[in-house]
Amino acid sequence: MVVTGLLPSCPILPLQQSNHSKINFSHRYSVPIRYRKRIIKSYIQRPPILVPSNGNGETFEDALRVFVLSDLHTDYSENMSWVNSLSTKRYRKDVLLVAGDVAETYNNFVLTMSVLKDRFKHVFFVPGNHDLWRRSKGEKHLDSLDKLNRLLDGCRGLGVETSPMMVDGLGIIPLFSWYHESFDKEKDITGVRILSLEMACKDFHACKWPDELSSKDVSLALYFDAMNEQNQHKIDEIQRSCNQIITFSHFLPRQELCPEKRMLFYPNLHKIIGSDSLEVRIRSIHGTDGSPSACHVFGHTHFCWDAVLQGIRYIQAPLAYPRERKRRMNGGEDWLPFCIYSSAKADQGIGSLSEKMSACYWSDYYSINTRQPDNTELAPWVAKLYAKRS
Ligand SMILES: [Fe+2]
Repeated sequence: MVVTGLLPSCPILPLQQSNHSKINFSHRYSVPIRYRKRIIKSYIQRPPILVPSNGNGETFEDALRVFVLSDLHTDYSENMSWVNSLSTKRYRKDVLLVAGDVAETYNNFVLTMSVLKDRFKHVFFVPGNHDLWRRSKGEKHLDSLDKLNRLLDGCRGLGVETSPMMVDGLGIIPLFSWYHESFDKEKDITGVRILSLEMACKDFHACKWPDELSSKDVSLALYFDAMNEQNQHKIDEIQRSCNQIITFSHFLPRQELCPEKRMLFYPNLHKIIGSDSLEVRIRSIHGTDGSPSACHVFGHTHFCWDAVLQGIRYIQAPLAYPRERKRRMNGGEDWLPFCIYSSAKADQGIGSLSEKMSACYWSDYYSINTRQPDNTELAPWVAKLYAKRS
């Protein structure tokens, strides 16, 4: 995600200008060192890519594996190179869920998705905010809905799925969504000068919507949510037929999936990341209390995340910007795309979700620290930044 302004960021590194926005909002921040040491000690280990077997060492060649990836941002040449470097053999029988923010330009989007479709047997996609930027690098679309339709047409042409589908007994449900400001229910940070959303977030300039739609109210979020109604019959069928369902979206369904405001260089980030109706829809699919097999994949904030909330496992596995990857505690990108599911045998639809992704800076932090949304005292690295600016 790109926001122009001060967003959750690394206390160690200065903010830098991006070619693609005024300032990169994203997440050049890391867990404070005292927490980091504890997390490193207990969590650093990468889950192996699941190799399906019958327990006797015999592997199943026809097993189904599902990989996830978000925020590819292939307008960065390093990221496009990463996509091109994916094995041409390793994923031939596998599924890839792409949770939005593939590219800003239509040409890069098509190029990226065609490479992914070449590597994976099935590729699913939901659009992110960057995908719907309407004016970039010589391309101009009537508005962001016009661009959305063009992307969906492009997916159809490439054989990329954007609707719910059963794959060998596994239910996969892409969910359209957009953020709304009232998603933020937590106490605002006061006493420091925080940029307005319009100044901080490039979406407000790069996207264009019909007059009746806006992310300042819930109209845009409801518009995108209503797009899922067209697929309700397929969702019903999947719910009747599948023991394992994986849903995915670009935006966040719950505010707890983002660090507290006091931890973020741009505390108002919470106002441009999520949708309440998305969570309602997810619960309508996975059940109010979830289940051991309930899993939702999301993107947008570029924070690696893997946590269970009220019975649903929420996962984010972003490629993110090149400089963000360099600072990741779990290093680079060789753990991506992340395998979240493997069946014992494809035609039996019996399988399991992966072990927990590790390390995930912030979801690991919140697994051992209580969230304090009413605490508005800035984290030291945030306070330091705002002190410099005052
Ligand atoms: Fe995004």
